[in-house]
Amino acid sequence: MQNELQLFTEGLNPRLQVKGTSRLSGEVKISGAKNSALVLMTASLLTEGKVRLNNVPELTDIKGMANILLSMGVELKTGNGSVELQSDNLHYFEPSYELVNCLRASFFCIGPLLGRLGKARIPLPGGCRIGARPVSEHIRGLKALGAVVSVEHGVVTASVPGIDRRLKGASVVLDCPSVGATETVLMAAVLAEGRTIIENAAQEPEVQDLANMLNLMGASVRGAGGPTITIDGVPHLHGCDYTVIPDRIEAGTFLLAAAITRSSLRVAPVIPEHLSAVLQKLRDAGCNFEIDKEGITIIPGEIKGVDITTQPFPGFPTDLQAPFMAFLATAKGTSVVTEKIYENRMQHVAELQRMGAAIRLQGNTAVIEGVPQLSAAPVTGGDLRAAAAMVLASLSARGISHVEGLNHLDRGYECIEAKLNSVGAQIFRHSDKHSLA
Ligand code: EPZ
Repeated sequence: MQNELQLFTEGLNPRLQVKGTSRLSGEVKISGAKNSALVLMTASLLTEGKVRLNNVPELTDIKGMANILLSMGVELKTGNGSVELQSDNLHYFEPSYELVNCLRASFFCIGPLLGRLGKARIPLPGGCRIGARPVSEHIRGLKALGAVVSVEHGVVTASVPGIDRRLKGASVVLDCPSVGATETVLMAAVLAEGRTIIENAAQEPEVQDLANMLNLMGASVRGAGGPTITIDGVPHLHGCDYTVIPDRIEAGTFLLAAAITRSSLRVAPVIPEHLSAVLQKLRDAGCNFEIDKEGITIIPGEIKGVDITTQPFPGFPTDLQAPFMAFLATAKGTSVVTEKIYENRMQHVAELQRMGAAIRLQGNTAVIEGVPQLSAAPVTGGDLRAAAAMVLASLSARGISHVEGLNHLDRGYECIEAKLNSVGAQIFRHSDKHSLA
């Protein structure tokens, strides 16, 4: 690598230099789930007891959430993959727009703050590059539980009337199986008076993980992971020591890194049933698997194109749509990828085309004609999963690629280049003012 490219690139953005084509082998360790750890951190606001979370990934989003909780008066300690939180001196807080805007998940605080304090003011999380991402269902659910909620000047103000400032259980039918809305109503309902039933609930594993932790804290939640969740409110919750589930999206990303480089690779720990739809599509595309309760080994065969349409869980996850499309770019034949969850999650198409992929985009449907090989190029990941897709494409491309958009990538993948290099990839991270050598 040292003498292949002598180029001084003063001031370019941080980027990954990826030498393709790579062959991978061995085992990749999967970290705790980002989309679980974030909401579990906010659930700690529901008790004055000590909450210890284990298997928390080291990501910029986790640091962002920690900062928001610290500024609310939460005592927080981190160390070797665990986070200890205690909010016995929680004070009324309005996170700044900047904090909320760079971390949408901070909106998850509204449910626990209402349940615990009976009031909350949280800036409306803006949209992001993949879509408008409204929170109307979150607000409708909180109103059903008796909260008074207004949205003015971009700030959501919520309060619980009555002397006891306690939410009242109710029936909530969600218009769409929103993960965030389900988790928000769930966290608000656990301390409410009486029974809450959430119908058309999101069934993602991260919702189940939240319900399991709340039950460990003394809540009474049944049916999480299915379409109807029943919560019987309790007067208070106590602390707990809880381990976050493995990240199914990270695991799927590494399985796709193996598939795109036609390598056999093992990922562990992972819960196989969290990836059923993805494993099925990879089987249809010509991959075989050895699966045990701890991990999954992928063995690619004769690879061919398949069609995927993103759906709420247990359907094909939108978060693996971009990485899967990178894989399909060199799969023999035609594939059709349809994005049904977000209105603007096809930004990776233009970047894959720069690498020689043959893709026709009509709205949120991409028609991919497999090509024998991609060619290296400077590319940018415009959102978290698009950045991951660029890394995967670069692993299989001929030549040296430069992947920018690490600010997105580092939000959701812990030490991605170290993990890939440990199984045979050749990736070098350049921060700016580095010479490329
Ligand atoms: C969670 O986002 C995840 N983020 C997302 O992961 C994931 O893509 C998404 O669930 C779907 O699985 C976290 O958990 C932190 P939604 P969330 O509410 O809760 C529409 C990643 O890459 N909707 O289920 O915001 C919405 O517009 C991130 O890790 C409404 O219409 O997702 C979207 O189209 C990206 N009205 C769809 O539902 C509402 O009131 C899914 O949104 C709420 C949502």
